[in-house]
Amino acid sequence: MWRGLIHEYGEFLPVSEKTPKLTLHEGNTPLLPIPSISQDLGIEGYVKIEGANPTGSFKDRGMVMAMAKAIEEGSEAVICASTGNTSASAAAFAARAGLRCIVVIPDGKIAEGKLAQAVMYGAEIFAIKGNFDDALRMVRKMAEHEPVTLVNSVNPYRIEGQKTAAFEVCDALGSAPDILSIPVGNAGNITAYWKGFKEYNERHGSGLPQMMGFEASGSAAIVRNQIIEDPETLATAIRIGNPASWDKALSARDESNGLIDEVTDEEIVEAYQYLAEKEGVFAEPASCASIAGMIKKVKDGTIPQGSKIVHVLTGNGLKDPNTAIDKSPVKPTRIENDYNMFASAVTGVQT
Ligand code: F0G
Repeated sequence: MWRGLIHEYGEFLPVSEKTPKLTLHEGNTPLLPIPSISQDLGIEGYVKIEGANPTGSFKDRGMVMAMAKAIEEGSEAVICASTGNTSASAAAFAARAGLRCIVVIPDGKIAEGKLAQAVMYGAEIFAIKGNFDDALRMVRKMAEHEPVTLVNSVNPYRIEGQKTAAFEVCDALGSAPDILSIPVGNAGNITAYWKGFKEYNERHGSGLPQMMGFEASGSAAIVRNQIIEDPETLATAIRIGNPASWDKALSARDESNGLIDEVTDEEIVEAYQYLAEKEGVFAEPASCASIAGMIKKVKDGTIPQGSKIVHVLTGNGLKDPNTAIDKSPVKPTRIENDYNMFASAVTGVQT
């Protein structure tokens, strides 16, 4: 039985006898081939389905570690800023561990499912008239002045936990892929994967991928090399104008001979629908920046044919039901409660 990241990957993590074995059985997520998309584009594609984690996103990998260390250090409260997934994960682990959890979110700009989670897990939620970057500034300041532990990805234990996804990718494939394609928001996850690939390579000679990160065009601070004061994208999870791990993302890019580029909301939505309809995989819009970016880079010739590519699908599609319903061309056909009417609608034959 899988017993969670601290148990399974303890030798790679900053854990001691005193670290509590906190877990919601996070990690061990599927690495699924995407044969139809692979055939369309001439690649060997896989998706790492991080939406299969207990709260439906990759954040659980980092959060279990950050929360366990907070408990070990005697903390009784945690705090984070969030575009939604971090707050859902923090709230769940805090509930499990019996800690107070304070979250700050951009009002009206987080997907409904994520808010539902934070509410259910019993977090104290503050919705500010500002964006994620404003919220992060606010919680960093509070963590400096009050006895609360900051659990955003600027907390190094978050990165430690999140790097385990790279281990799982190498184990599933037998070695690192040619390319790791990943959405970039605050840039913690690209930092974590790169760290994970390097550590696993040192231990097991598993090789290193090229790191390809993708921001949304409306919040592409790293690509444009400037802070975006008013970031805007339908992919609210990565609606971030001043990524905290900016420098580390650049290191991952440069050390791996990779790239960081941007994708438009239209490209994201197209990839979102394509992935669901062609492969039966429903990931949230921000996650699909990894697919949209790959498509862009195959089409412009940057990614060679036959490349083995792992796309990180960071969050579950059910997190954001409104975008799915708004953007889908499929609408329910409303009919009477009548079999004959139903049968003629399905078969196209009047009875
Ligand atoms: N994908 C999803 C679904 C996310 O929720 C996030 C970040 C990212 C990608 C980007 O990851 O920040 O490590 O570059 N969400 C954070 C949050 C900001 O508050 O939930 P990153």
